[in-house]
Formats: sequence, structure tokens, C-alpha cells
Amino acid sequence: MKEYHFDEIADRKVDHCRKWDRKIVEEKFGDVPENFIPMWIADMDFKAAPEINEAFRKIIDNGAYGYTYTYEDFFNAVMNWQKKRHGNEVNKEWITLSYGTVSTIHYLYQAFCPSNGKVMFNTPVYNPFSYAAKNNQFETIHNQLIYENYAYRIDFSLLEEQLKVEKPQLFLFCSPHNPSGKIWRKDELERIAFLCKKYGTLLVVDEVHSEIILSGEFTSALQLPEKYLDNLVVLTSPNKAFNLGGLKTSYSIIPDESKRSLFQQQLKMNAITSPNVFGVTGLIAAYDYGEEWLEQLTLYLRQNYDFSKQFIEKNIANWKVVPVEASYLPWIDISETGKTSLEWVDYLAKKAGVIIEPGNNFTADGNQFLRINIGTSRVILEEALKRIKNCQDEFGPKGSEK
Ligand SMILES: Cc1ncc(COP(=O)(O)O)c(C=O)c1O
Repeated sequence: MKEYHFDEIADRKVDHCRKWDRKIVEEKFGDVPENFIPMWIADMDFKAAPEINEAFRKIIDNGAYGYTYTYEDFFNAVMNWQKKRHGNEVNKEWITLSYGTVSTIHYLYQAFCPSNGKVMFNTPVYNPFSYAAKNNQFETIHNQLIYENYAYRIDFSLLEEQLKVEKPQLFLFCSPHNPSGKIWRKDELERIAFLCKKYGTLLVVDEVHSEIILSGEFTSALQLPEKYLDNLVVLTSPNKAFNLGGLKTSYSIIPDESKRSLFQQQLKMNAITSPNVFGVTGLIAAYDYGEEWLEQLTLYLRQNYDFSKQFIEKNIANWKVVPVEASYLPWIDISETGKTSLEWVDYLAKKAGVIIEPGNNFTADGNQFLRINIGTSRVILEEALKRIKNCQDEFGPKGSEK
């Protein structure tokens, strides 16, 4: 079996990634030391799978970058991947390519909400769920998750009440959940699908974090009983798992024909038609040839996660890691440190040169949390955690208080 190596990372200056860009980091976090380590934006530092690079190289060697289309290999790659990874039987017609999940969320809101419409989502959640609504003047309904004993669950009675009273056109559900990395169980998905259908709210499920599973088992919303599929939109892409976010290519799966044509009409109105030539190529290569790379990456990230959790529990006073099941973005509860998330972020950026995402960036209910990104080499991860440990005595409560 081919072995892939994740200790070696890419030179992130070459791709001008935002995560490592000093100017962008300083605009957001203030002056940082020369040797800062970014653990914020959800972008991994590893080189892409060689199979993907090879597919790109074929295009580059040929030297033509004309307008392309979603040819048969694209649909086959999506259908095969969905079947083998998630057991989903997806019909070709259900699939629509678009230019990234965040822009797709904008188009979905536009397609399904009238002016002054309402969208609902849990909080905390990935911020674009909310700003996509605000950008389009739609009202947002927050369904706050219940947080107890370092775990999240859904407040179903609140959910039902809000669906009944507020009547949002659309409920956008993040599964697995960003920021906590929680995998929702099938019975939870089914209850949500039941309630959305009962109250006439379209259920949109963002499954972009479903490919890197650290523990437990992911269930796709496409596994729901057939009676719910006519009220379902699933959004996904290989972007998070294969680190292809810059290709700006993703897709939706919409089983219901009338909902699908409404959405496709919205895309047409915005000229979302001819895809990016590298985006289609990257997706096909990732799905057709990248699975073994992804398995080995997941193993590496699992070890990074175990290492981080143990290190934090042993060395960083009163930081509590909320158990992560999916993805590479541990969510840290800092409520017992006596400091706010913004205070921690500011201090660590300036003092330790470690750039961390404040929980406040997740729409609401994140003030007592930090989100760290462990999608990097073990050496960099160890250095970042060591720096946090070394400066915490001055800032957080003393280690002896643990
Ligand atoms: C839940 C969720 N959806 C969507 C995205 C971004 O998707 P894209 O890069 O395809 O717009 C992210 C990125 O972190 C995410 O966490």
C-alpha cells in the first residue's frame, strides 16, 4: 500500500493562503511575533494528495484552460463516493455543481426565502450561516444548542416551538457540527426532518465536515426515510477533507425536482454555470483516487487530536477539550479560566504568537470557547501547544489550581 507523509507540510507562502499571511493575521489579531503559528481558519497545511496534483499536472502540461462543463466523470465520481463512503444512492439529476458551499448557502437563501424571509440554524455555528442571511436582509432565528457536561444536544421543544411560531422558510443544519465537531445521531436527524416537514420548513444539511471522522460513525441526511427526501437539500464537497477550499467548487444534492429547479434557476440568474476547470478535475481526482490518502490523513489527525487533548489536559490549566468526533478543529471550553475568549485570543496572539479563533466568531453562544486548528504537522502543533503552556502561568490561573 502506498504510504503518504504528513510530517512534511507545504510552503504556504507559495499559495498565498490567508491562514499564514502576516498582513491578514495582523489586521485581525494585531501585531504578532515574527514566528507566529496560525491555528485559526479551517485550512490544513498538508500538501494535497499526489493523485490530485497528478490530475492537475495533466491539464497544466496540456496548457489549455478553456470553459468546461460538468461532464460525466464528475457525476460518476460524486455518485460512487456518496455510495461507498456514506451508503447514499444518489441519482445523477439530483446533483448540482456550484462555486463553494458558502456561496451556495447564499443562493439557497435567495431561492427559498421571499423578501423579509426567515432562516433558522443552531448556535453556535459556522458564521456564514448567519451572515449569508444578513447579507440578503433575511431574518435569522437562533436555535440555541443545549451545552452540558462538555457536550451539545438539540433542544427539540425549542426547535418545534420556533418552527411553529416563526415559520422559517429554511432550517440550515450543520452535520457534523462546526464548531464542536459533534456527529449528530440518526434519530436526531430523523426528528429534525420530521419537524421540518411537519411545519413546512425546508431542511438544508451542510455535510462538509463528514469525511474526517475521528471517532463514532457519521450518518448522512440522505439516509433518512424516503418520505423526508422531498424536503431535503444536502450540501457538501471534498474541500475540507482534501484541503481544496481554494478551488471554490462544491455541489448540492436535491432529490425533489421542483425544489431543485427553483435552486438551479437561482444559479442561472447569477451565471453560476461553467465550472472552474481545476475545481472539477480536483473533485474527480479526490473522489476517484484519494480515498487511501484520506484514510491515512485521518489517522494522522486522530493522533494529533489525542496528543493535543492529553497535552492540554495535563499542561494548560482549566482548558477543557469538548470531545471532537469529526474534523480537525477542537473546541475548547475556557469558562473556568476567568478570562474571556477574546482576552485569550489577544494574549496568545501577541505573547505566544499562536493565532486562535475566538468562539465569538461562531454567530452566538461561543464566548466561553476557543477553536484551534490541528491540521498541521506534529512538530508545529507541539510547538504551538508548548508556547501556550509556557505563557499561561502569567495569564491564566496557575497550573497548580487544576
Ligand atoms: C460548516 C461549513 N460549511 C462550509 C464551509 C466552507 O465551504 P466552502 O469552502 O466550500 O465554501 C466551511 C468551512 O470551514 C464549514 O465549516
